[in-house]
Amino acid sequence: MSEPDTHFGFRQVPLDDKQALVDGVFSSVAGRYDLMNDLMSGGLHRAWKEAMITALNPPKGAQPFALLDVAGGTGDIAFRAIAAGGSGVAATVCDINAEMLAVGRTRAEKLAQGNIDFVEGNAEALEFPDKSFDGYTIAFGIRNVPRIDVALSEAYRVLKPGGKFLCLEFSTVDVPGLDRLYDLYSFNVIPALGRAVTGDAESYRYLVESIRKFPRPNVFADMIRVAGFRQVRFTPMTGGIVALHSGWRL
Ligand SMILES: C[S@@+](CC[C@H](N)C(=O)[O-])C[C@H]1O[C@@H](n2cnc3c(N)ncnc32)[C@H](O)[C@@H]1O
Repeated sequence: MSEPDTHFGFRQVPLDDKQALVDGVFSSVAGRYDLMNDLMSGGLHRAWKEAMITALNPPKGAQPFALLDVAGGTGDIAFRAIAAGGSGVAATVCDINAEMLAVGRTRAEKLAQGNIDFVEGNAEALEFPDKSFDGYTIAFGIRNVPRIDVALSEAYRVLKPGGKFLCLEFSTVDVPGLDRLYDLYSFNVIPALGRAVTGDAESYRYLVESIRKFPRPNVFADMIRVAGFRQVRFTPMTGGIVALHSGWRL
């Protein structure tokens, strides 16, 4: 029997084809990824990520705290978590894309940042033991993963009981007026900016389209509950452009 279809942006594609297409996008943009985040969001992604770190609340002392940052790319969340916490915080950045990880490794070397590991791996099949992390973060990553339910089950599996799950993702803009402006900006300005900065408009068109295909926040919260998490909540930010989802493994 053939695999069901899924979406890659607005295109229907076989489920088994999506990951390679996503990998092509991030291999193409890796070198300019961090710069593009600042340009596209006017720096707002920094505030959204800081909100995630505040919610993670890594311990400030020497108490050990193992963080797994999945789809962690160039390591933005992991660097911030280490900076916010004490000497016991150690982060593992796991990403399927070697080019994105290479940018992160270079960053860690330049900053002489210890307590951080970069590991190639798939969110759907994590190569970590059960109950091995205190925190699991995934920022702007989950919508790229073909089987989101499988990735959520894996997040649950690797977290220790008492561990926190946090997912930052683009969401649904519900503010009248802002929704139209946001559409205009997304579909016109972002691909043009992508072309100017990375020479690749198509990857940024995928980015915009994939945001529109991502489930509404209440639907995604239900998926997090189905994976086993409890006290599942979400907080929309910036008029719903992004939402911070959280849950606990109890
Ligand atoms: C938009 S970037 C986010 C990077 C980083 N978390 C941030 O917030 O800056 C999405 C990342 O998801 C990664 N990714 C896509 N599919 C993945 C998968 N199945 N498993 C792990 N990482 C994946 C991509 O390689 C890419 O680095």
